[in-house]
Amino acid sequence: MDDFTSLNRTIERIVGIRTSQYKEDYIKRRVLSRMRISGKETFEDYHRFLILDNGEKESLKNALTINVTEFFRDPDVFRAVGQKVLPDVLGTRKKIRIWCAGCATGEEAYSYAILVREYMRMSPVDATIYATDIDRVVLDRAREGVYDIKALKNLTEQQIRRYFTLREDGKYEVKPTLKEIVRFSHHDLMSGVPAARFLDLVSCRNVTIYFNEKQKKDLATLFYEALSQGGYYVMGKTEYLLRESEGLFTPVDSMQKIYGKSPVQ
Ligand SMILES: C[S@@+](CC[C@H](N)C(=O)[O-])C[C@H]1O[C@@H](n2cnc3c(N)ncnc32)[C@H](O)[C@@H]1O
Repeated sequence: MDDFTSLNRTIERIVGIRTSQYKEDYIKRRVLSRMRISGKETFEDYHRFLILDNGEKESLKNALTINVTEFFRDPDVFRAVGQKVLPDVLGTRKKIRIWCAGCATGEEAYSYAILVREYMRMSPVDATIYATDIDRVVLDRAREGVYDIKALKNLTEQQIRRYFTLREDGKYEVKPTLKEIVRFSHHDLMSGVPAARFLDLVSCRNVTIYFNEKQKKDLATLFYEALSQGGYYVMGKTEYLLRESEGLFTPVDSMQKIYGKSPVQ
């Protein structure tokens, strides 16, 4: 077994990331970046260091599951969801179930919660947003729901006042009116099991960029099965459906990467 393969086995075992399910090149780039930072020249040296150093295990895990996110990331996407998806789902039923898969520190899930709450201002609806991630550290931060003012740059003054409380330390905490409709939980998208079923919307944005082709295909099937008939799938702006998965979804807004679940043939 070569040094990189042996290092990968150790990462799977002690860091808890299934490296074999990601593109090899992706893992290699992240590991090389950690090697540069920690001053290790070979995979073998870095391997030994990783086994002994608990801080490095955490740093590598963070490097492998980059958690960059923001409220209303790509605002046009959320505008299109507000204009096309919500009226369709909530028009008659007054109930919505959303799965925000790979939610990082919570901004995406709370953005959907704001969108739904704004829509609900006219009439009460029953809403649940299942927000999941593989990284327990970001999930704790998401549950806490405390953000710097900089993180709220895509929100209007009115939305900030309505949905956040300014704390004494100058940070903004998400109000219970949003927290009560978002359920954060740990979930590995590679587990093959959905975090919820009978969904109206699955939003999995900027997550599959780290996945290999088989993983992307399996994930599209998983989302298809988790959605109700008439449900929607939202991808990240730079993500795309593989040709094999194109039959599962029909474009609703190709620019904003919003798809509808194709009817069963
Ligand atoms: C770049 S963030 C995207 C956050 C948010 N969806 C957005 O678009 O702003 C990617 C997230 O995917 C999560 N992730 C990576 N692999 C995952 C997996 N196998 N299962 C669940 N989450 C995963 C990471 O932990 C990270 O929080």
